[in-house]
Amino acid sequence: MDTYQAIISKRDIRHYTDKPIDDEVLQRVLQAGRMAGTAKNEENNRFILVDDQGVQDSLALAGDFAAWIGSSALIIGFAAPASSIRLFDVGRQAQNMMVAAHAEGLATCPVTLQHPDKARAAVGLPDDWEMPMVITLGWPVEEVPDSPLKRERVSIDELVRRNTWS
Ligand SMILES: Cc1cc2nc3c(=O)[nH]c(=O)nc-3n(C[C@H](O)[C@H](O)[C@H](O)COP(=O)(O)O)c2cc1C
Repeated sequence: MDTYQAIISKRDIRHYTDKPIDDEVLQRVLQAGRMAGTAKNEENNRFILVDDQGVQDSLALAGDFAAWIGSSALIIGFAAPASSIRLFDVGRQAQNMMVAAHAEGLATCPVTLQHPDKARAAVGLPDDWEMPMVITLGWPVEEVPDSPLKRERVSIDELVRRNTWS
């Protein structure tokens, strides 16, 4: 799969097999996240890898649309000091990882953890850190069901404005 195809064909998938992710593949995915640039080159966040079923189940309770995440082979959480977390940095890292994972045949999905105290307790973060986003990873089931949220993307004409709003 070439880079452009990997980017445009990536869909968010929530249905995984039990197959674990081999370390070589995981290292490439982590490297893809690591190499995303960060604002002021601060690199102040950390990736929390969660493959323990008990911890995954606790994290599932930290999000409002996260009940399913315990079925993934791996959850990667994006943790940072609460006073300096930059979601643009996290988004770049997460998308790099998800596209790299997709190119390896893995399925992924971003998930919001709306309850910071539950997320913090689940993975034992310091009191002044938070982890508002995670991504799930796993090998996709053979027949992936459509997402309940599936719809066409907004058209390029609608999405893109040139020079000014109108
Ligand atoms: C910032 C962000 C937060 C998201 N949070 C959740 C979530 O909490 N639970 C979930 O199941 N999907 C979540 N998603 C996945 C979206 O539902 C998904 O990106 C959207 O439906 C498009 O899916 P598609 O690329 O497969 O078409 C999130 C996506 C983003 C970008």
